[in-house]
Amino acid sequence: MRILVNERGAHRLLSRHLWVFQRDVLSGPDQPGLYPVYWGKRFLALALYNPQSDLAVRAFRFRPASDPQEALLENLEKALSRRLPALEREPEGGFRLAHAEGDFLPGLVVDYYAGHAVVQATAHAWEALLPQVAERLKPLARSVLAKNDAKVRELEGLPLYVRPLLGQVPPRVTVREGRVRYVVDLEGGQKTGAYLDQRDNRILMEGFSGERALDVFSYAGGFGLHLALGFKEVISVDSSGEALQRAEENARLNGLTLKTVEANAFEFLRALEKAGERFDLIVLDPPAFAKGKKDLERAYRAYKEVNLRAIKLLKEGGHLATASCSHHLAEPLFYQMLTEAAADAHRVLRVVERRGQGWDHPVLLNHPETHYLKFALLEVL
Ligand SMILES: C[S@@+](CC[C@H](N)C(=O)[O-])C[C@H]1O[C@@H](n2cnc3c(N)ncnc32)[C@H](O)[C@@H]1O
Repeated sequence: MRILVNERGAHRLLSRHLWVFQRDVLSGPDQPGLYPVYWGKRFLALALYNPQSDLAVRAFRFRPASDPQEALLENLEKALSRRLPALEREPEGGFRLAHAEGDFLPGLVVDYYAGHAVVQATAHAWEALLPQVAERLKPLARSVLAKNDAKVRELEGLPLYVRPLLGQVPPRVTVREGRVRYVVDLEGGQKTGAYLDQRDNRILMEGFSGERALDVFSYAGGFGLHLALGFKEVISVDSSGEALQRAEENARLNGLTLKTVEANAFEFLRALEKAGERFDLIVLDPPAFAKGKKDLERAYRAYKEVNLRAIKLLKEGGHLATASCSHHLAEPLFYQMLTEAAADAHRVLRVVERRGQGWDHPVLLNHPETHYLKFALLEVL
């Protein structure tokens, strides 16, 4: 059984993009699974296939293999061995063990939290393989939880559920990150429990100190915990009361203080501006405002608005640490948005560092969707 694609689909795979959409599939098996992809008689790739999904073909290897399932699990083994030195160095840390397409494991994310793993599968063919995935994680993790409650699974015709795959899954674990510790709610938190892609950017904040810092879109304390080591006052803002409760617990765990505010960030920033407040450092880590290409224009305006407001709130010599996790807002557009915000605020911003997602969230140049997190550290002159 094989998948036949048209010329456009073939060109995508030949350029080493990993995806072919349904409209470019000429014929394929009736059942989801792992199959070879051909353009006429020419072999192109081995792929996860789902005839019910718009994103029908997700390649994981560009060479044939006698056992496609074993070849896919070998990709998992390779991803795990890349992370092994970090886990040995920091067993109580938090790392991404498998970054979907970035690790040639399309639709599979595995995050590690201090000895426990959380798996999220969003491509149909993984569903039958989850026991084998858990088995391969055994040497690294005391427990494995399948947190398969992401809405995108419905597009694949998959059920939503959360259940253990291996061992005794604790409800909460404590993870060490730089000089702080934070608690992860494995079953109930956002995503797999935490936003590991920003780990290195959060640790970067430990190098700053001053009077007042503001952490906007803070989730469970995230950047604010690191900032509270060096700033006299840190305000954490989020629209989720539950996340802020966790932020306060995390602050107590570290003997630190965070002032938490449950608010819509847009309204809160406007109110701070009106009140003439000023800060030495502001972090902006919003959710993906652009979920699809069609949202891009509206999302661009939203990103610009929060950045413009933050720039106006900063003291001279202050820092803006600002991010976007929408892959639709590509890096050049992200910097264009920041440039416009700086111009509208009539302030000069110096680029201190251009950064992105951590090393354990690998980017494939050929598959731009793997590069989703942009992070700029800017100084207001
Ligand atoms: C990408 S996460 C932030 C992660 C966090 N900075 C960290 O390092 O752990 C985005 C956060 O924005 C919050 N959020 C979404 N829309 C919001 C809004 N309009 N105002 C305030 N917070 C919002 C979500 O509850 C979520 O916690």
